Amino acid sequence: MGSLIDGPSPIEGANSYSDAMNPEHTVTIKDSANSVVCRQDQTILDAYLRAGAWMPHSCTQGTCGTCTIIIDSGEVHQEYNDQHALLPEEMADGRVLACQAQPRSDVTFIPGGPRQPEKTFTSYPLKDLSAEVVEVTDIAHDTRRLVVRTSEPMHFNAGQYVRLHVPGSGATRDYSLANPPSQTELLEFHIRRMPHGVASDGWIFGELKPSDTLDLTGPLGDFHYRGPSVNPILLIAGGTGLAPLKSIVVHALESGGTSRMHLYHGVRLQRDLYDDAFFGELAANQPSLFSYTPCISDQPGSQNDGLVTDVVARDYATCKGFQAYVCGPPAMINAAVTMLRRKRMAPRFVYREEFTPPPTTSAR
Ligand SMILES: Cc1cc2nc3c(=O)[nH]c(=O)nc-3n(C[C@H](O)[C@H](O)[C@H](O)COP(=O)(O)OP(=O)(O)OC[C@H]3O[C@@H](n4cnc5c(N)ncnc54)[C@H](O)[C@@H]3O)c2cc1C
Ligand code: FES
Repeated sequence: MGSLIDGPSPIEGANSYSDAMNPEHTVTIKDSANSVVCRQDQTILDAYLRAGAWMPHSCTQGTCGTCTIIIDSGEVHQEYNDQHALLPEEMADGRVLACQAQPRSDVTFIPGGPRQPEKTFTSYPLKDLSAEVVEVTDIAHDTRRLVVRTSEPMHFNAGQYVRLHVPGSGATRDYSLANPPSQTELLEFHIRRMPHGVASDGWIFGELKPSDTLDLTGPLGDFHYRGPSVNPILLIAGGTGLAPLKSIVVHALESGGTSRMHLYHGVRLQRDLYDDAFFGELAANQPSLFSYTPCISDQPGSQNDGLVTDVVARDYATCKGFQAYVCGPPAMINAAVTMLRRKRMAPRFVYREEFTPPPTTSAR
């Protein structure tokens, strides 16, 4: 079994180091010819995704555990490990998170999860792109739409996210793509202001303006549309968790599927609601395929008054056989999963994207 080097990274912020300071290593899946070259300041996941090779992953920030691999030989340094993603005994067994593990020698590993993506997922190589800001607009209270034009097409699955690089800070933050995959050069994001947030408050709600340029990396994540279903599909969003669900809804309707989709958008107050005219019109134009229910939790007497999960529970006596796509803050996702389980939906048909905060709040 290989070893795991712990403790502070000897090469933090090493992107500008010379090649001699930042050697490359060969990383190989055990008993296969599947190898990539990985720099010492690069994670194993990043190297595989850039090479166009798929690897299971979701959060890419060391919190979900989806990217677990077992080191068979060689040494890695693990940048960050949320205590819930890997237990100490798993780490002692040689398990590491590919999204955090950087090689310190040539490495051979055993995949900890599936070797192939689901049939409904297309693996697009991870790319760094620059983009020009086309629009930054206030669309609701403390919520902005950001639209950027990329220097080259970004191919992705409806539901995936990209990483925005916050200029001058070294920090990166993840944001879900709200545009459908058919729109490859005009990317749309919905951003909620986080008080004192490095990316939101300090940049996107600060000096960012049309014609500025920015850098992004993507596509990332495994949240994606699984295709049409004979039974209804529920889409449940909390706040800006609407972004990937907008991409999925528009993509599904463009693809001509015949599933019945019902989108619920939960917000606290009327002033937090956005894109309701857009979804209202979609529902009016395609009533047999798409329904839309905005839900307002903290304004008694308003339309569909209550928590989004309570409104869904009121509408459906059972969700047996349904599929659900759920996106937003972790607490809302947990509530949705519990409610859907009570309504007899199989947990494996509840697809989730959690907007978890990054492990460090300043730079990552
Ligand atoms: C896969 C993924 C997709 C995402 N997509 C979107 C999206 O489409 N739209 C969007 O608005 N956000 C999205 N997020 C969240 C986003 O990546 C940032 O975490 C968020 O914008 C805050 O970044 P910041 O730099 O402004 O704040 P930070 O500087 O990171 O944090 C500022 C303060 O806010 C707190 N904080 C940060 N995030 C949260 C949180 N989620 N809940 C509670 N407290 C928090 C921090 O602890 C800190 O005190 C996504 C996250 C993930 C993991
Ligand atoms: S812990 Fe690596 S992708 Fe989530």
